[in-house]
Amino acid sequence: MNTAHIRGIDIAYYEAGSGPAVMLLHGYPFDRSMWREQIDFLSAQGYRAIAPDLRGLGKTSDKLQFVGDVDHSSSERQAEAYGTITTMDDMAGDVAALMDELRIDQAVICGLSMGGYVAFEFAHLFPARVSALVLAGTRAPADNEQEKQARFQQVEQMLANGMTGIAEASLPKLLSSRTLAEEPEVVARVREMILRAAPEGAAAAQRGMAARRDYSDDLPNIKAPALVIVGREDPIRPVADAEFMHRALSGSALVIIEDAAHMTNMEQAEVFNQALQEFLRSFH
Ligand code: MLT
Repeated sequence: MNTAHIRGIDIAYYEAGSGPAVMLLHGYPFDRSMWREQIDFLSAQGYRAIAPDLRGLGKTSDKLQFVGDVDHSSSERQAEAYGTITTMDDMAGDVAALMDELRIDQAVICGLSMGGYVAFEFAHLFPARVSALVLAGTRAPADNEQEKQARFQQVEQMLANGMTGIAEASLPKLLSSRTLAEEPEVVARVREMILRAAPEGAAAAQRGMAARRDYSDDLPNIKAPALVIVGREDPIRPVADAEFMHRALSGSALVIIEDAAHMTNMEQAEVFNQALQEFLRSFH
């Protein structure tokens, strides 16, 4: 593990290989370890793969200073619930600062789920630094009111009781029935990632996702090549969300992965890696 001191925090990251850079942005409430198979694969294929722990999660929860703005624009209840927040643009700014530190001008930005929201924000803030986008298990629209309230309830639960209940309730949605039955190592890795998340950091990210904007109107303006990946059985960000992004991103590719739910890159690592390689070879 490496650490870079940027924007007032110590950001932890993995880095391996040399060649065109690929930034791998994890989902919530996960950490860089979810990208292990992609780091190994990409570095062996002539890419420089980098996977940070995003602000508040993984090892980037130590010595944390939250810098996000609190959004008081909606209801009182919502403003109260926001509290400490890590916005998607806080995370995108951290990724850009890490790239500066590593002297990387441009990278393939690959995000899964929350990492996909960060990728959208990154592409909006720093379009010239995106050589291509990979959007896995994510979606463009913002949350509706009910989805926001569900996030605030989860925040209260994790701050009061820790991550255990959340891990057990999430696993059947994150993983396909096949993964749950036949891949105990993947199940254990996902459970352990959730259990080691710091509740305060996870809560801040959860509030940041509730506050995120709708990225739908950004899609037609994204000029970089894009690959959209989705698990056939993902109940969290289903195939329809991926098809929407694929239609709006001109010239994008869409890959639907069978026998996978939300954690496509871990559940079907080989299929995910093949899709990634084919896409990267199409323009690198
Ligand atoms: C994730 O995996 O990052 C989350 O499911 C994203 C979300 O809650 O919107």
